Amino acid sequence: MNISVTHYLEAALKLAEIRKGFCAPNPCVGAILVKNNQIIAKGYHHASGSPHAEVDAISKVDPSNASGAVLYVTLQPCCHTAKKTPPCTDLIIKSGIVKVIYGFRDPNPAVNGHTDKILQTAGIECTHYPITLIDNFYASYAYWWKHKRPFTTAKLAMTLDGKIAGRNGKRIQLTGNTAQKFTHQQRKYTDAILTTAKTIVVDDPLLNCRIDDIIYKKSLYIIDTYLRIPISANVFNSTEKITIFHNPQISKKEQDRFQKYAIRFIPIKANNNGLDLLEIFNQIGQDGIIDLWVEAGGKSFQAFVQNSLLQRAFIYVAPQWLGENTQLAFSVPDPLKGAIWANSTILGKDSCFEFKWSGY
Ligand SMILES: NC(=O)c1ccc[n+]([C@@H]2O[C@H](COP(=O)([O-])OP(=O)(O)OC[C@H]3O[C@@H](n4cnc5c(N)ncnc54)[C@H](OP(=O)(O)O)[C@@H]3O)[C@@H](O)[C@H]2O)c1
Repeated sequence: MNISVTHYLEAALKLAEIRKGFCAPNPCVGAILVKNNQIIAKGYHHASGSPHAEVDAISKVDPSNASGAVLYVTLQPCCHTAKKTPPCTDLIIKSGIVKVIYGFRDPNPAVNGHTDKILQTAGIECTHYPITLIDNFYASYAYWWKHKRPFTTAKLAMTLDGKIAGRNGKRIQLTGNTAQKFTHQQRKYTDAILTTAKTIVVDDPLLNCRIDDIIYKKSLYIIDTYLRIPISANVFNSTEKITIFHNPQISKKEQDRFQKYAIRFIPIKANNNGLDLLEIFNQIGQDGIIDLWVEAGGKSFQAFVQNSLLQRAFIYVAPQWLGENTQLAFSVPDPLKGAIWANSTILGKDSCFEFKWSGY
């Protein structure tokens, strides 16, 4: 292992992380220009349509200065024209950079077979240098390219007796401040949030991210078979773009109830268990959502697991019992079927267990 290469790539990763949750359908990328063992520029991709990380870094130095530099970038630079910005390979060649080291091979076929050759033909050394942190960072992006569906993480908070809500499903705040802070951070890192009508009707959540007095709004997808969420629901003001998946029998008149909001309605065919979940996740994938965060109850959680639609779950366990006549999280004997334990953390008074499903 080359320590300085790892060091520079990890520094580039820190830059890529700055805009995690705000670049979809693009991946988040960080780049560093190094000359004579000095970092001379740093860059990152801000959002779809804005300059790529390589361009952001190169634009920060005098053109004569970039000549002879080494570019460290988290993702293989792009070389194709079928997008909003010009290919990074053109600028890299023009700027006199002598070497490119990237951490992750872009799964986009328009890039991965071509970039290295283009740069090498121009006399630029180009190396793929994989490191685990960067591989993990791009797991969701690679998953999207493989399945054209979002890499999906569900969060579920429960008590020691496996309950998620009070009598008649009444909302009870189970977790403490530290777990809530963690949830808001995870919402920030995600491209969109998915919930159900049931959770909105019972909890009326905001589903935005509130971190240090800053509010970030995210796109929201709602599974609402019979269009039963009230127009007074908080999410209409606290989230960015709302898409509702519903039964095809819902009439235009029923949709008109939501006229004052710019809502997208997508009819989804139903089967014996409810709406076709695979079709829902395919639709979200088509929107270019790479990371999806799920906050809903146990019924949908189980259904997502049964349909192999979750890649990761955070189960928070609060140190309390809700007792009889309160709502159990799960009704099946193996709600985490196929999951592998990945991590355990203490979040204030609560415990958080992270599970992953392999095969992505
Ligand atoms: N502890 C936590 O972390 C947490 C988080 C969120 C919510 N909650 C609590 O969870 C409770 C709701 O949980 P829940 O388990 O009853 O419901 P849920 O998982 O939030 O939602 C289930 C609903 O999704 C809809 N759906 C449509 N197609 C489906 C399909 N193919 N498979 C599964 N669901 C489908 C159905 O409602 P429609 O037919 O109306 O579409 C179904 O009733 C609330 O009381 C809330 O307070 C807890």
